[in-house]
Amino acid sequence: MSFELDIESLDSEGRGVARREGKVAFVEGALTGERVRAQLVEKRSSFDLARTLEVLSASPDRRSPRCAYFGTCGGCALQHAGTRVQVAAKQRELEDNFQRIGKLRAGMMLSAVQGEEWGYRHRARLSVRYVAKKGGALVGFRERKSTYVADMASCEVLPPRVSRLIPQLCAMIGTLEARARMPQIEVAVGDAIDVLVFRHLDVLSESDIARLRDFAEESGAWVWLQPGGPATARPFHPGETPGLYYDLPEFAVRIEFAPTDFTQVNHGVNRMLVRRAMRLLDPQAGERIADLFCGLGNFTLPIARSGAHVLGVEGSAGLIERARSNAALNGLADQANFEVADLFLGHADALVTRGPFDKLLIDPPREGAVEVVKALPEEWPRRIVYVSCDVATLARDAAVLVHTKGFTLSAAGVVNMFPHTAHVESIAVFDRRAGQ
Ligand SMILES: C[S@@+](CC[C@H](N)C(=O)[O-])C[C@H]1O[C@@H](n2cnc3c(N)ncnc32)[C@H](O)[C@@H]1O
Repeated sequence: MSFELDIESLDSEGRGVARREGKVAFVEGALTGERVRAQLVEKRSSFDLARTLEVLSASPDRRSPRCAYFGTCGGCALQHAGTRVQVAAKQRELEDNFQRIGKLRAGMMLSAVQGEEWGYRHRARLSVRYVAKKGGALVGFRERKSTYVADMASCEVLPPRVSRLIPQLCAMIGTLEARARMPQIEVAVGDAIDVLVFRHLDVLSESDIARLRDFAEESGAWVWLQPGGPATARPFHPGETPGLYYDLPEFAVRIEFAPTDFTQVNHGVNRMLVRRAMRLLDPQAGERIADLFCGLGNFTLPIARSGAHVLGVEGSAGLIERARSNAALNGLADQANFEVADLFLGHADALVTRGPFDKLLIDPPREGAVEVVKALPEEWPRRIVYVSCDVATLARDAAVLVHTKGFTLSAAGVVNMFPHTAHVESIAVFDRRAGQ
């Protein structure tokens, strides 16, 4: 069945939103302001799912997807929309969440932090599937709404030198004895080298080992093997990995990392994000600042460079070990201290005993930082810069800060860390209200 729809907005998954027969319809492939002919995909009690068959009146912001696999591959959702539309949709998502969940408005909306839209993914998990009837292996992202691996020979959001390896990887894995027992490849791209971590479920045969070694030599990538959980990942060929790192030149900081460590996915936008966060935090020599969920020290070390004293707190002991070594590498060990703590548990209270802090930087995982914000005392901090990868938990935590902790939401804005996806990264600033 097909019907015509007028698209009113985009939803959090990048689908057009329309009304049909008194119900909301979510329409794949349609943009705000467009009139489309759509086909019903699924009928639910409170909404319908539909797919665009034909664009009858196109948005001026519509453009041709650059990638041949767009629509099948689940990696991107918005390549048919220009950057302006993508960023505006993310901004609306941020404002809607503040309003709906937090009953809040930001004092000021910041301009979006944005950078290169293609070749930006410096960290990715590629799925691998050996398909006997195709006579080869597939290497790529999952298909949309499916567990199948997309049949793709390139990827526009991976750095070109990694994208170019996909056909070579498919061919090489197809010849391995372990080809059906190699579920994923972790990609970690640094400023100098690229590492591919092959997860394998069985002990590798001599011939498989020889093929993987040949692949490393031909491709120029550094191959690691991972026989078990992430902690079992080890360099394989050409051996010990020299310097997987990225630089933050504005702060004269180099961050070294292991291929399975958390790093911000988009290194170009990360450099701008760190700059924006530092401008908003405005660290001063002599201040005491805490960087919560600090990872490898991505924000901690630029804060320390300002002359402030900073405590980085993080749940992963491995990341804290590397953060300490990064502080030493950058000559900042006197300014930056680190502690391992689970900030989702009662340890959030322990943070209070480490205070007072003049300012906080908080960059939690999707779950947010509600335990931390609830534990904050009345006296400090003066300012919080909150970097978020989930607008709903940011809005929830913002409500605690504003409605119960005496802060105002001074400013907020989106960070286009993942162009062409509907994923919204954002940054928000909270200041203690005068007299509180
Ligand atoms: C979004 S990352 C930010 C890392 C770092 N700020 C950066 O920019 O690279 C979130 C961090 O929170 C850490 N984390 C996750 N759960 C945690 C917890 N319960 N307590 C403390 N840290 C946690 C993760 O290990 C990860 O390093």
